[in-house]
Amino acid sequence: MTEKREIPDWEELYQKEPVEKLPWFYEEIDHDFAKALTQWNITAGHILDIGTGPGTQAIALAKMGFTVTATDISETAIEKALLRSQEMDCQVDFIKDDILNTQLDKTFNLVLDRGCFHTMHSEQRQDFIKAVYNLIEPKGYLFLKCFSHLETREEGPYRFTPEEITSYFASQFKIHSISQSVFHGTHEDFPKALFCVMEKV
Ligand SMILES: C[S@@+](CC[C@H](N)C(=O)[O-])C[C@H]1O[C@@H](n2cnc3c(N)ncnc32)[C@H](O)[C@@H]1O
Repeated sequence: MTEKREIPDWEELYQKEPVEKLPWFYEEIDHDFAKALTQWNITAGHILDIGTGPGTQAIALAKMGFTVTATDISETAIEKALLRSQEMDCQVDFIKDDILNTQLDKTFNLVLDRGCFHTMHSEQRQDFIKAVYNLIEPKGYLFLKCFSHLETREEGPYRFTPEEITSYFASQFKIHSISQSVFHGTHEDFPKALFCVMEKV
């Protein structure tokens, strides 16, 4: 059985730390997201960024012309992300929301998860997948980035093999690709990641 990993108290973390110092802070659009948007010819529509944290990905997508809603369980993360978007004169609908008990009542063309699923304990994962499934339009996409089983550092979130991702998601999503990648951020040595493109069936 996999050891239970220590997941931060998110609100405490965002109150204590400047977001620019967090390991996942990355101002540019995630390269895997950018490539996949082109590959799947997604040029417009309503995107949901789950676990948006500093909001950098949501802001980058809004600047590209998408309509963006972005949620996080931490109120402080949402406040800081909103401030960042206002400073950049950029429109994103930032909402405090726990994906495991989501109050969102819309569906989206594309849901992004850059580092939220991999913070879920095993007993939370089915609820997470069900919630995400319900938030995506039929034939909409899920872009998911998580730590890869190839990542060896001790600390941090859960890691997954492509087979594990397939076993979690394949009953509800068509899995188009799962590729080995990295998690860009403030670590000198970028953590190894999986990048997954899935379609709601
Ligand atoms: C590794 S960080 C990634 C942040 C952001 N996606 C990025 O790439 O910069 C994970 C984020 O998921 C959020 N999170 C954790 N559990 C959540 C939940 N149940 N509902 C919504 N957000 C959650 C955390 O507050 C944190 O901001």
